[in-house]
Amino acid sequence: MKDLYALILAAGKGTRMVSNRAKVLHKVCGVPMLRMIYNAALGIEPDEIMIVIGQDADQVRAALGGLPARFVLQREQLGTGHAAMTARELLRGKKGDVLVLSGDAPRIRTATLRNLVERHRNCGAATTLLTAHSQQPFGYGRILRSGDGRIEAIVEERDATPEQRAVTEINPGFYCFQIGPLIESLDRLTDDNVQKEYYLTDIVRIQHSNGLRVEGLLHGDFEELRGINTRRELAELSLTVGKEKNQELMASGVTLIDPDRTYVDQDVVVEKDVTLYPVVTLEGKTRIGEGCIIRSGARIADSVIGPDVQILESCLITDSEVGAGTTIGPCARLRQHVVVGQRCRIGNFVEIKKSTLGDETKAAHLAYIGDAVVGSRVNISAGVVTCNFDGVRKNITIIEDEAFVGTNSQLVAPVRIGRGAYIAAGSCITRDVPAGALGIERTRQINKEGWVERRKRLKESS
Ligand code: UD1
Ligand code: CA
Repeated sequence: MKDLYALILAAGKGTRMVSNRAKVLHKVCGVPMLRMIYNAALGIEPDEIMIVIGQDADQVRAALGGLPARFVLQREQLGTGHAAMTARELLRGKKGDVLVLSGDAPRIRTATLRNLVERHRNCGAATTLLTAHSQQPFGYGRILRSGDGRIEAIVEERDATPEQRAVTEINPGFYCFQIGPLIESLDRLTDDNVQKEYYLTDIVRIQHSNGLRVEGLLHGDFEELRGINTRRELAELSLTVGKEKNQELMASGVTLIDPDRTYVDQDVVVEKDVTLYPVVTLEGKTRIGEGCIIRSGARIADSVIGPDVQILESCLITDSEVGAGTTIGPCARLRQHVVVGQRCRIGNFVEIKKSTLGDETKAAHLAYIGDAVVGSRVNISAGVVTCNFDGVRKNITIIEDEAFVGTNSQLVAPVRIGRGAYIAAGSCITRDVPAGALGIERTRQINKEGWVERRKRLKESS
C-alpha cells in the first residue's frame, strides 16, 4: 500500500517473561515473535518498516537476519508512547499513514492489517484502531466509548476504575494513524499515570478531545490479536501455532501418527507421503523429502533430508544433508554440516561430524567419523574411530571409494585409505594405505596351550 509506513514497537524488556532476553526474541515454533509481526507487516507492502528497538538491540536487529527495516533506538523504555516519540523524526514530513504494531502480538495476519488501513482510509479518521471483545480482558487497555458510541479514550488496567475494568472491549495494540496529527499529538503526551510511562493509548483521548475523529474496527477473532506477556501465554500460543502447522501438513499429504505430539517449526517444509511418528521434532530451516519415514524421538534441525529416507528412533541430526533412500539410526547423530549420499546405511550409535559420505556407504554400528571425506560403497565396520583431533587441531581422514575398514580400527588423521583398500580389524592406522592394499597393524596373537590347567595347579600347591 502506498504512503503507508509500519512501525513495530519492540524495545521493551518484557518484565513479565522473567527473561534475560528481550521479549520479541522469544520464539513461537522456531520463529522469533518479531519476525512473525514483521512478516505480517511486509505483506501489506508498506513504503518502509521501522522497528523501535532498545533491550538487546543488537540481537533484535540480528533476529531479522538482514531483512529490510529501519531501526530506531529507544535508549530508555519509558512506555509505548515514548517508543512512538522515538520514531517521530523519521515520520516527520512523510505523508500518509503509519500503522503501529505491538511487537508482542505475533499472530496478527496481513489481511487484518489491510482491513484496518482500508477502514481508516475510507472513513478519514485521524486514528483507527482494532478493538476486540474478550471475556478475560485482564491486562488490556479498555476502550471507553461515549454515549453516541464514539471512542473517547483507552484506559490501562492499572489506571482503570472498577467500572472501567468491567468493560470487555479491549485494545489489542494495533493502530493506524494519519502521520501529521499523530506527530502533533505525540508532542502532548505526558507520563501522568500509575506507571509513570508515556502511553501511546493516550493519543486517543488527546485527539478525541481536540475534535479529531477516532474510529474503531471491531475484530471478531480475539485469539489472533492476543498479546504475549508471560511464558504461559507463549506456551499456549506455541501450541496453537504448532497445531495449525500440523493440520496444514496433514492437509498437504503428510501422515502424523499423533498430531498432538509432533513438533514442527513454522518454517519447516515437509513433502507429501512423509510419515511422522510421535515425538518427532523438526526445527529451523529443515526440509523433509517425499516418502520419508521419521520414527519417534528423532530431532532434526536445519537439515535437508532427501526423498525416501528412513530416520529411525532417537536420532539427532543438525545442520546436515541426507541423500535419497538412506537409512539413519536408531540413535545416530549427525552434526556440523554432514553430507550423507544416497542409499547409505548409518546405523546404531554412529556419530558423524563435519564429514561427507558418498553413495551406498555403510557405517552400520558404533562408529565415530569426524572431519572425514568418505567415498562411495565404503564399508565402515563396528567400532571404527577417526582420531581427528591431536589436541591442537582437527585433521582430515580420507577414505576412498569401495574401501573396507575392519572392526575396531582407529584411523589416526591425517591419513588416507586408498580406493578399494582393506583395513584389517583391530588396526591402528597411522600411515596412508595405498589403493588395493591391505593395511594391518596388530601384534601377533600367542596361544599358550594348557595355560589355564597349569595356573590352577600352581594355585592349589601354594
Ligand atoms: C499495551 C497497551 C494496552 C494494550 C496492550 C495490548 C499501552 C500503554 N498499553 O499494554 O492498552 O491492551 O498493549 O497488548 O500502550 N514497548 C517499547 N518501548 C517501551 C514500552 C513498550 O518498544 O518503552 C513495546 C514492547 O516491546 C511491546 C509493546 O511495546 O512489544 C507493548 O508493550 P507492553 O509493555 O507489552 O504493553 P502492555 O502493557 O501489554
Ligand atoms: Ca503486551
